[in-house]
Amino acid sequence: MTKLCFASNNEHKLDEIRPLLPAGFTLLSLADIGCHEELPETQDTLAGNARQKAEYVRQRYGVDCFADDTGLEVTALNGEPGVYSARYAGPQRLAADNVAKLLQELAGAADRSARFRTVVALARADGATHEFAGEVAGHITEDGRGAGGFGYDPVFAPAEGDGRTFAEMSGAEKNRISHRARAVAGLLAFLSTE
Ligand code: IMP
Repeated sequence: MTKLCFASNNEHKLDEIRPLLPAGFTLLSLADIGCHEELPETQDTLAGNARQKAEYVRQRYGVDCFADDTGLEVTALNGEPGVYSARYAGPQRLAADNVAKLLQELAGAADRSARFRTVVALARADGATHEFAGEVAGHITEDGRGAGGFGYDPVFAPAEGDGRTFAEMSGAEKNRISHRARAVAGLLAFLSTE
């Protein structure tokens, strides 16, 4: 049985990732390993933040651990909010405020294309760190729709879908095409070669 810690305090991310892991893996939360601290996230790239979180937990708790960092990159906003997606509308990090600001910034925009990009960093107890990326293209809708998912999901409709936003999909549907599921697929492919 391979035990892997997922270095995140975001319950939504844990719920998404748990069904992606095949038999033989046990996913440990930060609470499971006795980590109740805020993880540092002070880098200016997704990869930098993912590595920082995973390596922080590896260093202090000595476990194999992975972390993800995700950004929403909007073409008409030159790739913003990107790595600053969580704090887009301010340090309170509220999804509703972030979404409201995004819709305001895009009011009247002809090009509403965007993509989610995730970098997963795996920090091994032996000291090595590996990165895996995943992305999904789509567009920002005019209004929020759906009650599922989290963050920007109510205003993101993936290009590979049927027009519904991620928040209108089940978790399994989102996992079939999402940025995070794709990055985790890279992680699992890497682990399966060992
Ligand atoms: P972080 O990866 O937790 O730093 O997330 C950055 C920002 O993007 C936060 O505001 C999250 O709510 C949002 N976010 C991360 N992943 C997703 C997702 O899968 N769907 C929608 N929003 C997300």
